[in-house]
Amino acid sequence: MDTHVTAPSGAAAHIVVVPINGNIGAEIRGVDLRRPLQPAEFRVVHDALVRHGVIILRDQDITLEQQMAFGRLFGELSIHPFSPNLDDKREVIVLDYSKDNPPHLTDQWHADETFRAAPPLGTILRARVVPEIGGDTLFASMTAAYTGLSERLKQYIHGLEALHDFKPWRPLFTSSEAHQKKLREIEARFPNPWHPVVRVHPVSGRRILNVNAQFCVKLRGLRDDESSMILQYLYSRAAIPEYQLRVRWAPNTVVMWDNRSVQHYAAHDYYPQRRTMERVTVAGDPVIGVSGPYTPEENIEPLPDGKGARIAPPGQRPIREFERDFY
Ligand SMILES: [Fe+2]
Repeated sequence: MDTHVTAPSGAAAHIVVVPINGNIGAEIRGVDLRRPLQPAEFRVVHDALVRHGVIILRDQDITLEQQMAFGRLFGELSIHPFSPNLDDKREVIVLDYSKDNPPHLTDQWHADETFRAAPPLGTILRARVVPEIGGDTLFASMTAAYTGLSERLKQYIHGLEALHDFKPWRPLFTSSEAHQKKLREIEARFPNPWHPVVRVHPVSGRRILNVNAQFCVKLRGLRDDESSMILQYLYSRAAIPEYQLRVRWAPNTVVMWDNRSVQHYAAHDYYPQRRTMERVTVAGDPVIGVSGPYTPEENIEPLPDGKGARIAPPGQRPIREFERDFY
């Protein structure tokens, strides 16, 4: 068996966790979400989520109630103030895009709902209708994105804060008095939070790069041009392939991501085909940032990119053309 594959023992011995990419993603086999998870099974699933950031469970022909019950194992479910939801289950967002309802707002790297003082812990998506071509979701490990920065840049962003806002939904409000009144109410319910740029994961203790283009407005204490330049650079880290996972959906694929450490991007490359997803969101805790003066993060494995590794002498590695004269 591959040494990276985790096969738990005891009551969860039937579960297999198979990592997908070097920095992010794992497929979990042997879990059936149609029945309640035993505590030992939940521990394996929870640990895999924290460790790999994104977990994929295939062929889960579940009801909405079962999807909600799975979410509730992680915490209370939350209701999104702007997304379309079900009348009788407002915790369920139905993302149903088709010819007459083109995909909207998901083709940008983001973590969900960081305009909240306590953004979601995680999000669970279940695929109902999958386009024949396209419609993948991409994920990026912001833990790896932080680790990959230079020590000097890590020092600079240590303790920095960014202002977040529900800006993508502001255009939904018209200038009518009723809409403006509603907007004021929502602004009072979701006052702009200042979130740390370097977040500490509440379970793993790992540092996470915690800014995203969809909701960040500016960095505290910088001029607008400085803020925008630094934010643009930090946003760009999500686009690095080594930090990413790309999920190809099939009907009944369930994916959960740790919204504290992962950003996502749903590719808009399937229009006018239909793509229908059901989403349940688990509420999270207030964001905790790094504190005190900068010190390097301890006991962290380097990214699996070979940078900094010893280069073996000739004989233990292939010879380059120009070296043939010397060896
Ligand atoms: Fe999202």
